[in-house]
Amino acid sequence: MVAKSKGGAWPKGFVWGTSTSSYQIEGAVNEDGRGQSIWDTQSKRIGGVANGDTGDVACDHYHRYADDIALMKKLGVNAYRFSIAWPRVQPTGRGAVNEKGLDFYDRVTDTILEAGIEPWTCLYHWDLPQALQDRGGWANRDCVGWYADYATVVARRLGDRIRNFATFNELSVFTLFGYAFGWHAPGLKDREAHFKSIHHVNLAHGAGVDVLRDLVPNASLGAVHNYTPAVPEADTPENVRAAHDLHEHWNLAFPEPQFLGYYPPGLARDLEPYVQAGDMARICRPVDWFGLNHYGPIFCKASEDYLHGFAWGDSPDKAPNAACGWAIYPEMFADTLLELTERYGVPVIVAENGCGTGTGSDVPDKKGRVADSHRVDYLNQYTAAMHEAICKGANVKGYFVWSLLDNFEWGLGYMQRYGMVHVDFETLKRTPKDSFHWYSKLIKGGPVGKYKNGKLPAELKGALKKSLQSGT
Ligand code: FCB
Repeated sequence: MVAKSKGGAWPKGFVWGTSTSSYQIEGAVNEDGRGQSIWDTQSKRIGGVANGDTGDVACDHYHRYADDIALMKKLGVNAYRFSIAWPRVQPTGRGAVNEKGLDFYDRVTDTILEAGIEPWTCLYHWDLPQALQDRGGWANRDCVGWYADYATVVARRLGDRIRNFATFNELSVFTLFGYAFGWHAPGLKDREAHFKSIHHVNLAHGAGVDVLRDLVPNASLGAVHNYTPAVPEADTPENVRAAHDLHEHWNLAFPEPQFLGYYPPGLARDLEPYVQAGDMARICRPVDWFGLNHYGPIFCKASEDYLHGFAWGDSPDKAPNAACGWAIYPEMFADTLLELTERYGVPVIVAENGCGTGTGSDVPDKKGRVADSHRVDYLNQYTAAMHEAICKGANVKGYFVWSLLDNFEWGLGYMQRYGMVHVDFETLKRTPKDSFHWYSKLIKGGPVGKYKNGKLPAELKGALKKSLQSGT
């Protein structure tokens, strides 16, 4: 129920949070028995990450978590989404458990709860133990069992205090970028390994849900998907086809089997060799919400240079852009929220939404103010679109801003900043930005703004429709 009041109110009990992930903020990569992850390897490989940046120190959250949680309390969020580093818990990914790693997450959990904030915990935000990658990683079906064992260890230790668990973050991103495009760890461009990884991650999700359902009292479970319109950059048959295929890979490869029990048609053909009897039922387990990460639409094109024949294209001339160059179309965010409500029938939790800026921006001025007006504008528009979608019937129960802190941005290293809190990577000093104060106000019931842009040119609207209707 949307409570109507002046300025536009939010649903009762709405979850307001902020998100981070382990490798992006923790640092302390060699401390207290942590094993190596595939991102340690990727960031030490020449050309693996921009400027040779690594997560060795990152925001040093491993030592400064109490200060960071105090900042969150000041911000006024009622929820915090963080992820657990598998290599801290099981340094080689299997067997031996590292008590000191678990102790860290114990401390984090207790401190969050003491601050009156509810933990939302993700079991896997891309930092697979390197020892498992040495055995094939997600291309090896055994990874399903290793993941279930890891989930069991975490559930037994933290399940008495944490009930909200995501099995995975952005399943199509780490499989596509890691196994097909070679952009992310483990840096592969291997068609067969990519297909296998899709199916095995789906199986691991199902196994994780079973473990958590069994061990966590009153569990509230889901996976966090990246789901966004894949728009052909121009209305040609090749681009329409590419958009269709990208939509299957990016948006449908995980939600469809997890919620509906089948793969979309094109992928089903490619995955057939790897699907064993009973697998689809193992994947399709009831969950409590759809976790959505959404930043903007993808404009795409056909390209022989990439493994599956689709690639990222250009956004239309004069497209409104965020400072990081991503196109801003809040209207398509609203459409996505309505579409997901209808298609999958569970509440949507927006697990990430936010705005990145490049090197040199978001710098504190002489008085220590960080005037990130681009981020405030972006968040204003996207939350206004979310509000509109809720009023139209979208079942959205929560919203998390990515991110609390500027952090290690995967392949871009420290070049891009997403935080509502500025981090000086020399001194590690934290400075809340204008967006921090803006978000605080919004949570307290501040006015809902209007969004002004985000109209797709008619030609591309038509092309998008064609791509969604086209068969393979
Ligand atoms: C998402 C990731 C998150 C962060 C943001 C900017 O794809 O889940 O870790 O990198 O993008």
